[in-house]
Amino acid sequence: MPITIGTLREIAAHETRVALVPEVAAKFADAGARVLIERGAGEAAQFGDALYKKVEWADAATVLAQADVLLTVRPPSLEQIAQLKPGAVVAGYMQAHEKHAEVKAMRERRITSFAVEFIPRISRAQSMDALSSQAAIAGYKAVLIAANTLDKFMPMLTTAAGTIRPSSVLVIGAGVAGLQAIATARRLGAVVEAYDVRSATKEQVKSLGAKFVDTGVTAEGQGGYARELTAEEKAKQQEILDARIAAMDAVITTASVPGRKAPTIITRAAVERMKQGAVIVDIAAEQGGNCELTRAGETVLHHGVKIVGPLNLPGQLAYNASEMYARNLLNFLKPAINAGELAIDWNDEVFVGSCLTHDGNIRHEATRKALEG
Ligand code: NAI
Repeated sequence: MPITIGTLREIAAHETRVALVPEVAAKFADAGARVLIERGAGEAAQFGDALYKKVEWADAATVLAQADVLLTVRPPSLEQIAQLKPGAVVAGYMQAHEKHAEVKAMRERRITSFAVEFIPRISRAQSMDALSSQAAIAGYKAVLIAANTLDKFMPMLTTAAGTIRPSSVLVIGAGVAGLQAIATARRLGAVVEAYDVRSATKEQVKSLGAKFVDTGVTAEGQGGYARELTAEEKAKQQEILDARIAAMDAVITTASVPGRKAPTIITRAAVERMKQGAVIVDIAAEQGGNCELTRAGETVLHHGVKIVGPLNLPGQLAYNASEMYARNLLNFLKPAINAGELAIDWNDEVFVGSCLTHDGNIRHEATRKALEG
């Protein structure tokens, strides 16, 4: 019997993406799986039902009851988990640090869940890396929001009415989102500066044609990520950064530290030193924000400065975001599908590292400690 791979219409607020796009659904079907999709699942991402070939359609309850593998964007809800077959596999974002009841429910129902957030960031897994694919979209979109919110041009213009100076943009955090933000702001013609606590980013920033802001603070953490700064380091960083922030038309903040609230980098005092009409777009808004005044889902006006706290930026580019995300899931799962059958290699560090629950246990160590002590 071939396995059934199911996908639902996402029900979380602000979620427009879909976990299976037509191209990827057909590839799963070609690998011998039966693909079962809830009607209208891709509608919000501009993938109408008619675009999907080689798939079957059903209502949500049927998809949940029949799926051997459920592909999702957001974590499944308690109601959805209760309807899954015991032993079913779920792959998607799991937000395990906050969805404790859902993780426990998956443990109780012996669901095998894989969290895309936990896929090891090794070379082989780059094509599966949803954090990267979606962060790149966030970086791009954040700059477009800044351009739209500014009362200024981004590029320099020479016109009969005189020369217009280009906008200055500072990108804080030069990870995947930040590098894409730098590239996008440069394409729009802005003069770009960038800052990160990881010294490895210096060359990357420069190669994109931006100036690196050197604060003298470096904080490489484990696995290529940043660590939290000490109070002394924070003070040093702040003094130099605040002066650069004050000179900017737009600031894009992308800084985060895995598993923690996003660091506060722009204080209220720094905002009050900024120019009237300046814009901050805080990509970290949903993780608590990099600016002290950010409110997720709102645009705050403070001393003439607009602070935008967007929600689900990848969902604002749902077509490409879904396409990239679905390909990430295909690259992740395909090695486990053979002639339509599912066989997970439990010696593969990608499956082991991303597994959240399996066989009645929480397999992800940090989550297990948080939930079981
Ligand atoms: P992230 O989303 O966790 O953080 C974004 C950026 O914020 C990072 O560059 C981080 O250094 C920076 N940051 C943190 N605290 C800061 C502070 N106080 N001030 C200024 N900046 C601060 O990181 P992301 O974008 O997910 O990737 C980070 C690392 O992972 C990079 O080294 C990247 O090259 C690596 N990576 C490796 C991959 C692979 O090999 N498969 C795939 C993707 C990323």
